[in-house]
Amino acid sequence: MTESTTIRWEQDDTGVVTLVLDDPGQSANTMNRAFAASLAATADRLEAEKDSVRGVVVTSAKKTFFAGGDLRDLIRITPETAGEALESSLAIKRNLRRIETLGKPVVAAINGAALGGGYEIALACHHRVALDAPGSKIGCPEVTLGLLPGGGGVVRTVRMLGIADALLKVLLQGTQYSPRRARENGLVDEVADTPEEMLAKARAFIDAHPESQQPWDRPGYRIPGGTPANPKFAANLPAFPANLRKQTNGAPYPAPRNILAAAVEGSQVDFETAQVIEARYFVELAAGQTAKNMIQAFFFDLQAVNSGASRPQGVPPRQVRRVAVLGAGMMGAGIAYSCARAGIDVVLKDVSEEAAARGKGYSEKLCAKAVARGRTTQEKADALLARIIPTADPADLTGCDAVIEAVFEDPALKHKVFQEVQHVVAPDALLCSNTSTLPITTLAEGVERQADFIGLHFFSPVDKMPLVEIIKGERTGDEALARAFDLVRQIRKTPIVVNDSRGFFTSRVIGHFINEGVAMVGEGVEPASVEQAAAQAGYPAKVLSLMDELTLTLPRKIRKETRQAVEEAGGTWEAHPAEAVIDRMVDEFGRTGRSGGAGFYDYDDNGGRGPLWPGLREHFTRPGHEIPFRDMQERMLFSEALDTVRLLEEGVLTSVADANIGSILGIGFPGWTGGVLQYVNGYEGGLPGFVARARELAERYGDRFTPPALLVEKAEKGERFGD
Ligand code: NAI
Repeated sequence: MTESTTIRWEQDDTGVVTLVLDDPGQSANTMNRAFAASLAATADRLEAEKDSVRGVVVTSAKKTFFAGGDLRDLIRITPETAGEALESSLAIKRNLRRIETLGKPVVAAINGAALGGGYEIALACHHRVALDAPGSKIGCPEVTLGLLPGGGGVVRTVRMLGIADALLKVLLQGTQYSPRRARENGLVDEVADTPEEMLAKARAFIDAHPESQQPWDRPGYRIPGGTPANPKFAANLPAFPANLRKQTNGAPYPAPRNILAAAVEGSQVDFETAQVIEARYFVELAAGQTAKNMIQAFFFDLQAVNSGASRPQGVPPRQVRRVAVLGAGMMGAGIAYSCARAGIDVVLKDVSEEAAARGKGYSEKLCAKAVARGRTTQEKADALLARIIPTADPADLTGCDAVIEAVFEDPALKHKVFQEVQHVVAPDALLCSNTSTLPITTLAEGVERQADFIGLHFFSPVDKMPLVEIIKGERTGDEALARAFDLVRQIRKTPIVVNDSRGFFTSRVIGHFINEGVAMVGEGVEPASVEQAAAQAGYPAKVLSLMDELTLTLPRKIRKETRQAVEEAGGTWEAHPAEAVIDRMVDEFGRTGRSGGAGFYDYDDNGGRGPLWPGLREHFTRPGHEIPFRDMQERMLFSEALDTVRLLEEGVLTSVADANIGSILGIGFPGWTGGVLQYVNGYEGGLPGFVARARELAERYGDRFTPPALLVEKAEKGERFGD
């Protein structure tokens, strides 16, 4: 018999076999071909040598227990290769099942993260002991990649926890639990503090259960909580589709739907049939476009972005120890919190001690909440707060090795505050501005060391939003770019890098989404349909409500400035149809958005959002005027995608991965698309299909949908973005 390589066999003199997962040459174990072959060989050997085996411990020699499916393989599954994929999926299931039904106790000693396929291996064991290793996570996050657990994860969690808990706690949200929380929620049986304790507990289980069987293989077993065959249970079942709708907002995410189907259908048949049902639903997802998009974005692109593909090479990494945050308003307060949370000392400066203290108050509130919810300890919260020093005195900024400016959006004021501090902070301090609209190159002219000046565009609310857009001005040096990148990573956020341009990448592109929604109202489309179209396209915020949040005066201000710049440069301003709607809303009806108490929606005295303003129908809607729902959705999606291509043409964007990640994490471009350029790649018919559809939209709705030259050229060459 061939000795399996990925799964090492170690047998002691008491007959306990330890199967050590240890893919040679790989940093983590994945469900690749070598694993599949090893698993088959291991099952053969266990069956052949059964009489000398007293029990089995499954553990890993890597830092993680097992990483899950090999996404490089999964992303290549197509409808043509689906049959083959189904076969290999079933083969893995079959071999896990052979070990599960050997008649000997099998224990998973989960020494590190066990996510997806890793947790599914543990599920096939009769008992799970997890080591409480720092950062170790357990669960089935497949849904977040547009997939479902296809290694028996649906079948076994349903049988272990019952349909409702399996769906809500494990499958539909993809929650990743710490070992202790995994035990509280029934995903593992025991937790150990040391590897020795973990192995001792595994052995104790073997000693106590010489002939272990899964609960579902015992006679008379019933799924906890019942199945649809039970009328009481069936009565509750209709709640699940409603839950699903809530989760996906009606957007095209096929994974939750397939998970629900696999769980419910699988609960009504025997174990083996349930495995086949699960495999079919899995392969359908894997062969589809959404999973490809999501794997590309949330795995490959995110990894490329965070690992520094856009960071200049050769600049040694540097950590910030003490940061000056100028302006303790909404953004400054959030930035101060995020820096302090990452262990950086913060000097938070505003015009008065009171204003600065108010800014620190924001961190106090967040800390109190985190303590109350058990997410941090009082001690850690106190330490975080002690790192934030509120002040109005520039002298307190001595020794700061980075400055993040977040005062009002006024170039003269920004110049003034940098003048005030540039000689007080460390002589080589990194100088960052959190401006959302002002060109970085011009702002840099206000400081002496322009090479050290850079844009660091955070998103609101800072403590929750994972993205930071780094903007390189014309004179920004590579060293400053690398340091800004390192600072963003230090505070555990995701950095994308763009070149300076009005609105940078994110603000410019989200403007197109909003304009398109508003323009449709102007054309006479029912406003509620516009909102519905945005939600069903998968946008997290409805378009008119987002406009109200940002205020209708903001696009007017940006338009004025941009128009002036365009005309000064000798260009002509091309008005967008949204402009007339916004002007009427503000000038004729005095509706400036939520902060003004009235916008596209009505608001109560506390700013609570009421219904859409009935006046919209009276003044804008043309009853009976309808445009296809698909056009409505695609006008929003295409307007953002087309401008992103223009930003690539202009050299503002230089990385496809940055564009994809920035669009999802920064401006709510729907996750199912895999990001704004992956949406183009994955569109029906590929780039040529996208170009044809853009031309159709241009004909119906205006020249702004005319595909840019770069897109047409790539389509003609048969290329994709990122090739
Ligand atoms: P804010 O109005 O909440 O806060 C500005 C703060 O700056 C106030 O506390 C003010 O007292 C302080 N300030 C004024 N003069 C100062 C001086 N000489 N020294 C120190 N502090 C001074 O404004 P917000 O929303 O926090 O915005 C700040 C910056 O961040 C702006 O440039 C804005 O464009 C940008 N930004 C805003 C985003 C948002 O969603 N609000 C998103 C991304 C960037």
